[in-house]
Amino acid sequence: MLEVIAKIREEALARVAAATSSEELEALRVLYLGKKGELTRVLRGMGKLPPEERPRVGQMANKVREELEGALKEHRENLSRREQAERLRAEALDVTLPGRPVTRGNRHPLYQVLNEIKAVFIGLGFDVAEGPEVESDYYNFEALNLLKEHPARDMQDSFYLTEDVLLRTHTSPVQVRVMEARRPRLPIRIVAPGKVYRRDDDATHSPMFHQVEGLLVDRRVTFGDLKGTLMAFLKQMFGDQVQVRFRPSYFPFTEPSAEVDMSCVMCGGNGCRVCSHTGWLEILGCGMVHPKVLSMSGYDPEEVSGFAFGLGVERVAMLKYGIDDLRLFYENDLRFLRQF
Ligand code: DAH
Repeated sequence: MLEVIAKIREEALARVAAATSSEELEALRVLYLGKKGELTRVLRGMGKLPPEERPRVGQMANKVREELEGALKEHRENLSRREQAERLRAEALDVTLPGRPVTRGNRHPLYQVLNEIKAVFIGLGFDVAEGPEVESDYYNFEALNLLKEHPARDMQDSFYLTEDVLLRTHTSPVQVRVMEARRPRLPIRIVAPGKVYRRDDDATHSPMFHQVEGLLVDRRVTFGDLKGTLMAFLKQMFGDQVQVRFRPSYFPFTEPSAEVDMSCVMCGGNGCRVCSHTGWLEILGCGMVHPKVLSMSGYDPEEVSGFAFGLGVERVAMLKYGIDDLRLFYENDLRFLRQF
């Protein structure tokens, strides 16, 4: 028995000394000293020994146990010191290496322009409202006086999800949602930026694009308020020298309606390719909110009036930066995007 213990001791000490990781040490501890370990087994088997041998065997086994525990502890400490030193070395900072440049991204030009537009209107006292991109036929068309058979629906060829649900073709439905939600509080002064969708695809049209809607409803709002607001906006966006004109137009949700042109930013109004030699660029649609739209949203058109406008963010960005193909905005070509 004593020989068995001596052999276990010798073997265990050798293996502990040769261990190269704390995991290995732990495995050795379990192997020799664990509940089913070799030394433990010897101690358990002592009952079978003649009583006079037990003390010596027990003494020796305990001594070996202590010795092994000590060796394990010492070696474990050595190892963990070494492991830590290695980790530190691996993580050490070499301050002589050349720095890695952190390249800075920038906001997409469309969202830069969108933020500028928002900032101008916030400065004029408007707040920002949002609406869903998946919209019901009611908000996108009906409540804007575009009834089911209205031919003007064709102006906005649409993506339908079901007969009554579609991707919104403009941001105008947000007008209705805001009027419903805020009634009867006045004034309403909002801009509603966002994505809109139409079945269109060429150098100046994309199936997805961005608009900013504007709506102001209060008592005694006049066309003069609309003009003043839009002129203030265009001057802040394009500079004080910009000329603005209002041309009669038609939208089902406004009466009267107008299209707004501004003097060409490329030629200053002298005529060039960008403005088809007219000196003018069409920039947005607007008008006085149609009485039917007001009453459908629960307002009395005898009591309140309002103006609305809608502008295309891509168009503003193209004019501001002299970009001639709208698809450039969506191609994620860094050579294009880095210029802004
Ligand atoms: N919703 C129109 C469109 O997408 C733009 C528009 C025109 C909005 C006149 C308005 C407005 O609010 O008054 O073509």
